[in-house]
Amino acid sequence: MLVTVQGIFGVLGFKGMILNGWTDEHTARFQKDMFKVKHSLNETGLFTDDALADLLDKHPKDQLDVCARDDHPVFEFKFRTGDVRDVDGKTLIQAAKNGSIWMNLRQAMNIHPEYMTVLNQMYGELSQLTGQKPFNARGGILISSPTAKVPFHFDATETILWHVRGHKRMYLYPETEEFLPDVEYEALMFNQTEDYLPYNKQMDEAATCFDLRDGEMMTWPLNAPHRVENMSYCVSVTTEYSTRESSLKNAAMYANAVLRQRYGMEPDWRSASFPEKLLKAGLGKVLRKVGVLDDIQVQDWVSFTVDETAPDFIRDITPFRRGF
Ligand SMILES: [Fe+2]
Repeated sequence: MLVTVQGIFGVLGFKGMILNGWTDEHTARFQKDMFKVKHSLNETGLFTDDALADLLDKHPKDQLDVCARDDHPVFEFKFRTGDVRDVDGKTLIQAAKNGSIWMNLRQAMNIHPEYMTVLNQMYGELSQLTGQKPFNARGGILISSPTAKVPFHFDATETILWHVRGHKRMYLYPETEEFLPDVEYEALMFNQTEDYLPYNKQMDEAATCFDLRDGEMMTWPLNAPHRVENMSYCVSVTTEYSTRESSLKNAAMYANAVLRQRYGMEPDWRSASFPEKLLKAGLGKVLRKVGVLDDIQVQDWVSFTVDETAPDFIRDITPFRRGF
């Protein structure tokens, strides 16, 4: 049965539904399986090049990451960070289209009221359609060059990719110890930035590949590892939200990290019973509050700026520690 609640929500200048063709089958598979659904974010007018250039001009620079690929001999996907504090939005959009950069406007869907209205509609519809209680979602906007790739990683909260424009290819992998080792999961619980997983090409034999075109959103089971290739200039919205399940697991994984690192134990998430997981989650919450494990802050160095006269729009600058 096709569910329609058209007209219940509605944002300024956009009165239709954002999610299109969501059925009871999608509700049954939501958060358990991987699938695509059509959406209408393109019709809000907030994701055109002109709108995004204006957004870049007003978005706080400490919430904007501009990255370029580093030709690192060992870590294929190492990123460099750029300083674009005095580069205007139009030039940044040109750099994404014709150069080789990747931009993440962190929390853009929450910071700017017109985008927040849309985010509320996206999750309002999702809540209505799935019958789940309202989600407290955070959302960023990704603007990527055709050469940009997102390395193999997992997300510790429920994540949805609302692809808006362009051709994006997404590879999803099984959520097993082989692809997502407990040790790597635990590391993310006290390491704030470097969250990439070990990867080799042979892993692709177990991957499921999805091609995303204009107006397709993609959802997958909690923590399923994935990587992304941009096949063209791409604009996407990425949203995340915590659930009882993800909060419980993250707290338990913090406890497991302490047990492994401080007491030499070898905890195993997947074989643990539910009562053990609950107990570990309670323990993890306390340990995290006390701060038993020190957060490892990976230092971010800035080494380029965006310049339309430079090759790929990237001009090297004397590296300095990011302080913005
Ligand atoms: Fe992700």
